[in-house]
Amino acid sequence: MARIIAGIGSSHVPAIGAAIDNGKTEEPYWKRIFSGFEKSQAWMREAKPDVAIIVYNDHASAFSVEMIPTFALGCAAEFPPADEGWGPRPVPTVQGYPPLASHIAQSVILDEFDLTICNKMEVDHGMTVPMNLLFGNVDKNSHWPCPVIPLAVNVVMYPPPTGHRCYMLGKAIRKAVESYPEDLRVVIFGTGGLSHQISGPRAGLINSKWDKAFLDNLSKDPQKLAKVPHVDYMREAGAEGIEMVMWLVMRGALDDKVDEVYRFYTVPASNTAVGHIILANRLRTTKPAGRHKPAASHKPAAKHKRAAARAKPALIRSH
Ligand SMILES: [Fe+2]
Repeated sequence: MARIIAGIGSSHVPAIGAAIDNGKTEEPYWKRIFSGFEKSQAWMREAKPDVAIIVYNDHASAFSVEMIPTFALGCAAEFPPADEGWGPRPVPTVQGYPPLASHIAQSVILDEFDLTICNKMEVDHGMTVPMNLLFGNVDKNSHWPCPVIPLAVNVVMYPPPTGHRCYMLGKAIRKAVESYPEDLRVVIFGTGGLSHQISGPRAGLINSKWDKAFLDNLSKDPQKLAKVPHVDYMREAGAEGIEMVMWLVMRGALDDKVDEVYRFYTVPASNTAVGHIILANRLRTTKPAGRHKPAASHKPAAKHKRAAARAKPALIRSH
């Protein structure tokens, strides 16, 4: 069966994408940020997921104020890059995984979570920046290392879903993944945040104390975190801090008790706090089962079939 091996939380600051795209990653300001993800990229290379589910929010690229789904699942075969501000990022088209995406849609909707199904969707920095941070820089004419199932969450117009709703959706996604018969190693990303506000009298707000408590609770006490109301995010983490509820979808898809593999936090990136965490499920370990091939030769039924789960990657202790 398919299984979720780990959850990844990552900010998706658009300026990070612009720094990559404009060759600024070695500049001291940006190197401080990118160096915090080097161990994560090594972890990801070892983990070799077959599929990534990426929970993110659209920034008026695929949707607009005319139409804002609360939860939108990408079931297409591919998702071209699009973006606001700097324009479409020069990154490869993201390959989807329609068989698993459709299975998740069926399972989750029949579990009474009303997803919008997207059979055509462009994806912006909300998704591609975390992909770069975890998978590294990928040439536009190359391929991302694994297919992706996007899950877009409305955190741009009131009312966004509650943290509890996101947490419970994560549990439903896990149930869906684990009822999929193909042997797949799946990672799930929660993206956005951490504390930031981009306009109004409190523009530039960063609350490191709140952010670090959020990461602590995400790791150790997610049920407590799931009870935090919208107004607390707004008050403590700024107007755009509500993006952090998306991390609760990721956390809900994991075991109650997880291994915290790695954590990184720095301020600022643009006008935003950057947070990152890797949380691993405590899977039984078996022998590795061969090399993972890039999505270029993606054949859903054959390519991602694995005889057994590989050994989980080692923990990184650097904080
Ligand atoms: Fe965002």
